[in-house]
Amino acid sequence: MSTKGDTGLACVILAAGLGTRMKSPLPKVLHRIYDRPMLQYPLETAASLKPEKIIIVVGKNHNVIEDTLKPLNTVVFAVQEKPKGTAHALLTATTKLNGFKGTVLVMNGDTPLVTSVTLKKFLKLHRKHKNSVSFISFIAENPSSYGRVLKDRLGKPLRIIEEQDATEEEKTIKEVNSGIYAIEAHALPLLSNIKLNKRKKEYYLTDIIQIAAQKGIDTGVYCLGNEEEFMGVNTKHDFLKVHEVMRKRIISFWVKKGVNFIDASSVFIAPSVKIGSETLIYPNVYLHGDTKVGKNCTIYPNVRIIDSAIKDNAIIKDSTVIENSIINTRAEVGPFAHIRPGSRIGVSSKIGNFVEVKKSIVGEGTKAMHLSYIGDAKVGRKVNIGAGTITCNYDGVKKHETVIGNGVFVGSDSQLVAPVKLGKGSYIGAGSTITKNVPPGALAISRTLQRNIKHWRKKKR
Ligand code: UD1
Ligand code: MG
Repeated sequence: MSTKGDTGLACVILAAGLGTRMKSPLPKVLHRIYDRPMLQYPLETAASLKPEKIIIVVGKNHNVIEDTLKPLNTVVFAVQEKPKGTAHALLTATTKLNGFKGTVLVMNGDTPLVTSVTLKKFLKLHRKHKNSVSFISFIAENPSSYGRVLKDRLGKPLRIIEEQDATEEEKTIKEVNSGIYAIEAHALPLLSNIKLNKRKKEYYLTDIIQIAAQKGIDTGVYCLGNEEEFMGVNTKHDFLKVHEVMRKRIISFWVKKGVNFIDASSVFIAPSVKIGSETLIYPNVYLHGDTKVGKNCTIYPNVRIIDSAIKDNAIIKDSTVIENSIINTRAEVGPFAHIRPGSRIGVSSKIGNFVEVKKSIVGEGTKAMHLSYIGDAKVGRKVNIGAGTITCNYDGVKKHETVIGNGVFVGSDSQLVAPVKLGKGSYIGAGSTITKNVPPGALAISRTLQRNIKHWRKKKR
């Protein structure tokens, strides 16, 4: 609901364009910026204003868009069968307004960097000046892909002119239309006065400004924020630029929160990631999804972490991949380790060079330092997994579990053929293939005895 004293608010996000300039079969607004489709950004910004409803105008590929977006219960979709222009798109949205009386905030689905701070400022100005129609403008270094703003001597907007309709003189105007409008519901009938643009065969929402101005209806234009914020994504090149702005914004946010970077220019942190203070991040690190990194952690170069929790004081060494797992306090993982989904690495445990862990629990203080595979296993506390140990978890049909008790010592180059249990404190001789359970405290050894043939070399010659 709207805040007391304000008229109600409804948000319309235009997302039905074909996006032909992206040269991709994927709908433009579904191209991902980090882990989220581009449309999710304006959607979440709109939602943060707590509007009564959000209407997303989608095109013929609406099913894939509706399925991809995270559901928000205030969202309704309006289907614009043919992309006949931004005015036609808004007209399509009005069919879902159902007698709504307040302010309609129109946004573009391809403008993902707009912040709620700017939108709030804009709505405040629009309401303060009691305008019927307002829009946000900004100054563009290169205005060629935006509509130019024409104003009268008092700064009132007269018209927005698109690049292809502008004269050479109009093209030099650097103040451009952001594509964000506030239109009072009672002014929406103006849309029916918009005529088809003959050149582009589209109904331009931008024409509402000239129509309102000519009718003496109160209009306003507010030059807010910077160019970056209103960057519209029309080409893959724009998409790269938006990604870079988003990346820098996120890094700067975490620097302010006390996170340290050696060189942040190659660090990618998704918007939903959280990082504790005094954590140190080296170059070329990718943190994705719902990853949470605690305080005082160190993440060395070339690390990728997806949907995982790294607890305080943990160290993730070079070239490590961690997916959907938990790395507990003071644990050390890597270099060159792969922690696959469903794993939990215990407090102060060490998972070292070229070790792969999958869907396994590793207890406190346990060490697997070299060249091992731990899959579908429950490993107790203070276990030593020798170099080259393999849990043989797959029989070709099913996966089976390996249970390793507290304090077990697994000698190097052992194969533990699951399902199998190694009792507490048991000891596995190096090079063993273990197919039967081992009682607590026992030594299991399964290799042929060594024979030394004296003077063999000499005899062979
Ligand atoms: C539009 C504005 C331009 C502004 C720029 C800001 C018009 C005519 N021009 O240009 O003044 O500077 O945005 O980024 O409005 N869409 C539909 N249905 C359609 C056509 C478009 O839903 O039939 C949606 C698109 O998916 C997109 C948004 O409307 O999200 C803007 O359309 P786009 O074609 O990108 O317009 P621009 O050329 O960028
Ligand atoms: Mg655009």
